Amino acid sequence: MGDAAGHYFDADPTAPSAPRTVRLDLPDRSLVLRTDRGVFSGERVDPATKLLLLEAPDPPEEGVFVDVGCGYGPIACTLAARRPRAVVWAVDVNRRALELCRANAEDLGLDNVRTTGVDELPAHLAVDLLWSNPPIRIGKAALHELLSAWLQRLTPAGRAVFVVHKHLGSDSLQRWFAEQGWAATRLTSRDGNRLLEVHRR
Ligand SMILES: C[S@@+](CC[C@H](N)C(=O)[O-])C[C@H]1O[C@@H](n2cnc3c(N)ncnc32)[C@H](O)[C@@H]1O
Repeated sequence: MGDAAGHYFDADPTAPSAPRTVRLDLPDRSLVLRTDRGVFSGERVDPATKLLLLEAPDPPEEGVFVDVGCGYGPIACTLAARRPRAVVWAVDVNRRALELCRANAEDLGLDNVRTTGVDELPAHLAVDLLWSNPPIRIGKAALHELLSAWLQRLTPAGRAVFVVHKHLGSDSLQRWFAEQGWAATRLTSRDGNRLLEVHRR
């Protein structure tokens, strides 16, 4: 999405609605998800998102999970389907994306997804697992502020997994995590997309 169409992280996208569906095929399940214009990668599941869903370490059986920047919900819905005993908070600023994510969770019968705007989150939510294809395009300062705030919510054994393309700064982001005192490991890399795991030292 360029400037004329607005940004995928606008609260209320200006692009006219054009609802459609995309298919997310994974080894363990296939999901059909509603998407639209005005949301991130509404025309196909983003390859970076797919890498995270294919290669991230197995989540714990239960706990509080978060998808930061859920978009229409491919990560949140997959996590919730794989771990029915977990509660998955799906958080975004884009109201069209949030509504799609809510509808996708409902269509899939996933009553463990909590679709939430950033201002409606419980103040003291402690997070066991965070998965995110983060909003790099909001700019480095805003991204660092966002990720710092979320990482502070990790429980002592909590883990965060981010997927970021090398052309969008994954290597400098990994260095920044380390400079901030976090353990940050590159788990895998495919077609330039890097999977980074971050946790407390
Ligand atoms: C790269 S997209 C990933 C979307 C989705 N998880 C996927 O994989 O298709 C990043 C998302 O972060 C959202 N976002 C931007 N700023 C945010 C913020 N401050 N807090 C939460 N989400 C934000 C954007 O609206 C966008 O939906």
